[in-house]
Amino acid sequence: MPNADEIRAAQRAAWARLSASWEKWDSVIMDQLGPVGAAMIERLAIADGQQHLDIASGTGEPGLRIARLAPAGRVVLTDLSAEMLDVAARRARAQGLGTVETRVCSADDLPFDEATFDSVSVRFGYMFFPDMAKATAEFVRVLKPGGRVCASVWVKPEENPWTSIAMQAIATEAVVAPPDPDGPNMFRCAAPGYISALYEGAGLVDVGEWDVEVELVTRSPEQYWEMISEHVSLAAAALQQVDGLARERARAKAIAAVIGYEKGGEVRVPGLARCIGGTKPAGTEPAQPPT
Ligand SMILES: C[S@@+](CC[C@H](N)C(=O)[O-])C[C@H]1O[C@@H](n2cnc3c(N)ncnc32)[C@H](O)[C@@H]1O
Repeated sequence: MPNADEIRAAQRAAWARLSASWEKWDSVIMDQLGPVGAAMIERLAIADGQQHLDIASGTGEPGLRIARLAPAGRVVLTDLSAEMLDVAARRARAQGLGTVETRVCSADDLPFDEATFDSVSVRFGYMFFPDMAKATAEFVRVLKPGGRVCASVWVKPEENPWTSIAMQAIATEAVVAPPDPDGPNMFRCAAPGYISALYEGAGLVDVGEWDVEVELVTRSPEQYWEMISEHVSLAAAALQQVDGLARERARAKAIAAVIGYEKGGEVRVPGLARCIGGTKPAGTEPAQPPT
């Protein structure tokens, strides 16, 4: 079982490798994940002039959307991977967003004072943290009393054919080890109540979770394969182990399986995410230094 430093190092390396693919497929990924970001933002009740912290921001969402909604506020995008945040910074510049800062850090060790932020978002990041309880305690620490947190995770693979179709095809050619339930993986937080329990353990109140449908839309089955094999962490890692012929066979199988999702000249493959919201109780003022 790797320790926390080893998990962070492996995640840093994996996301540095994936950052170019996330930038290449930016518009397809953002269209797919947009409904989840919108649901999280609704729960966070963003008000202009406030301070927002986006954890595991990757290429910047939902932090950049929050910065557009609250132009007089401050949005800090954080991530373990400098390469992912470089993409986020380029996206922020391209959108003319001047109130956005980036900071490389791990979710479980935040370089911010207590009670700094009005809201915290974590879209599809939790499952990669070395210590999810410690990370949650950090979110609570940096939130102001009454501040809101909202995260999202993936529901089980059966509800997410957008990734499981490709993974099943890859598993016929590569050894896809069963995920370590205690280690980082895309579906680690899929069980209902998993993140809610972490929130309640950290003292958050008004905790609730709900599911949000997504749809991955590509122009063709071939583009579906290209996109998934390049940017989904599990798929990219499994394909690294096999030769070109095995890759080609996995590609052909995935394309044959996804053809059933072609509609009106596009491929539309569904998925399901879960959002989890919570609030830091009012009246939990930070300890004052002795006078
Ligand atoms: C699936 S991406 C999500 C990116 C973005 N929030 C979105 O929804 O488009 C997961 C991100 O988690 C980051 N990550 C992994 N471990 C982390 C950690 N310990 N602390 C902060 N970020 C981490 C990765 O670098 C990656 O950018």
